[in-house]
Amino acid sequence: MRTWRMGLGVVAMAWMALCGSALANEPILIKFSHVVAIDTPKGKAAEKFKELAASYTNNRVKVDIYPNSQLFKDKEELEALQMGTVQMLAPSLAKFGPLGVKEFEVFDLPFLFDDYAKLHTVTYGPIGQALLAKLTPKGILGLAYWDNGFKQMSANKPLKNPEDLKGLKLRIQSSKVLDAQMRAFGANPQVMAFSEVYQALQTGVVDGTENPVSNFYTQKMHEVQKYLSLSDHGYLGYAVIVNKAFWEGIPADIRSQLDRAMADATLYANQIAKQENDKALEAVRQSGKTQIILLTNEQRVAWKRALVKVHQEMSGRIGAELIQSIYQATGFDPAK
Ligand code: LMR
Repeated sequence: MRTWRMGLGVVAMAWMALCGSALANEPILIKFSHVVAIDTPKGKAAEKFKELAASYTNNRVKVDIYPNSQLFKDKEELEALQMGTVQMLAPSLAKFGPLGVKEFEVFDLPFLFDDYAKLHTVTYGPIGQALLAKLTPKGILGLAYWDNGFKQMSANKPLKNPEDLKGLKLRIQSSKVLDAQMRAFGANPQVMAFSEVYQALQTGVVDGTENPVSNFYTQKMHEVQKYLSLSDHGYLGYAVIVNKAFWEGIPADIRSQLDRAMADATLYANQIAKQENDKALEAVRQSGKTQIILLTNEQRVAWKRALVKVHQEMSGRIGAELIQSIYQATGFDPAK
């Protein structure tokens, strides 16, 4: 009986050792959840990171991507990251308010960035780094900024002058700056998860919305919106974030390869963003379903005049110093 028991013990130990070594060979799994289609700047950059993470670590890391709100919607994905249910996200910068880091809403200030180059002085510089550091007390690490692009405004009526938006119900992300922006038009902003926008537009729950064209086209919003004004009235981009405890638990040699994969995926993301939006605009045009409106110079100036007051209005929330530091970095002059 005793020998029999000892025999069993040896078998159990051998089995555990086998499992242990099998586990040691298991790749580290990173679940990366996001809300957009694969065929977008963020969707493609996530795929690039997956590929580079596998190749730079000799498959010691596996990234599973869950696109299109498949796993979580906007608000839930941030909670899931903090709980460790997923390990990586790239929410839009307009979605950090509910987490208590409202400074990211500075990126939503209308007309703040004239082009990607001006924006990059912030996202690649010390201001961008200081903003990412604000996530640390929340148990989150900010690894990089990924571009999408400049937002356009859609509705079922042509939007040319600021007055045209008056009284419209417009879907926005959770940012209070975007709320103030829509109110500056005299419109009624409605916060809604990205995954719900198509249906809300289709059923008339909202009349219109804003997004870069890559999101507009891949969510098929062109099927349910008759007009798209190329207003470029604000920027939309992302912070790539990870669960801090998880990230810091990754062995240093592997983590340094992941940092390299992230740096390369970021270069890729920011290289393709403009062309992805240009391609999407062409696809909307080809669809013949949405009429594209080019604003005249005067109309665009009128939009800017109507919206720039939001900078001042929101300075209490975001911080006047932060806004000033971005004006200085980009040369933005609210009076012009
Ligand atoms: C939105 O909710 O409109 C966008 O932020 C979605 C995204 O992640 O690009």
